[in-house]
Amino acid sequence: MSEQFPTISVAEAIRTKRAVRQFTDQPASEEAIRAVLNAGRRSQSSKNTQPWTFVAITERTTLEALSKTGGYTGHLAGAAFAVVIVAQPGYKFDVGQAAAYMQLAAWELGLGSCIASLHDEDAARAILGVPGELECYTAISFGYPAAPPAAPRPGGRRSFEEAVRWEQYSSDK
Ligand SMILES: Cc1cc2nc3c(=O)[nH]c(=O)nc-3n(C[C@H](O)[C@H](O)[C@H](O)COP(=O)(O)O)c2cc1C
Repeated sequence: MSEQFPTISVAEAIRTKRAVRQFTDQPASEEAIRAVLNAGRRSQSSKNTQPWTFVAITERTTLEALSKTGGYTGHLAGAAFAVVIVAQPGYKFDVGQAAAYMQLAAWELGLGSCIASLHDEDAARAILGVPGELECYTAISFGYPAAPPAAPRPGGRRSFEEAVRWEQYSSDK
């Protein structure tokens, strides 16, 4: 049976999405996991190369092992599931696109998420059986937030005036 997904606009999802690193024990349904993976699969890439394979992980032991492969990757251990983006070398921008699409799609479903940079890529490769010629430096934890998501906070982002320039970077060319 199909789940009733709540809907929020893309603008609202972008405005309210925050990094979530603590999750409840509630598992994510296969339908929700597939919706997140489909968002990654459908994201844009340079020349439509689609240089990725998405490894979806729900096994707790694998999540715990991956949580030890980076300096700030502890949140993987408690995730309902994680996705590791395995990619051809040289496609970091594309990997970022897929990550953002998946995280926003997840947020629409009430699933929080956080990126985990796998600094010890060799260890991550060994855990997942990834060949040495492929990169796997980005994992994303997903799960239902343990606490209500923090409100968008003033000062949480550089102001519009600080972050944006119109027409030119510098006025003194
Ligand atoms: C390229 C990239 C790498 C990141 N790596 C990590 C990481 O290894 N561990 C972690 O906890 N968060 C990581 N993050 C999450 C950022 O810390 C988070 O998005 C940022 O602090 C903004 O959080 P907020 O949206 O809650 O304000 C990463 C984010 C990006 C875009």
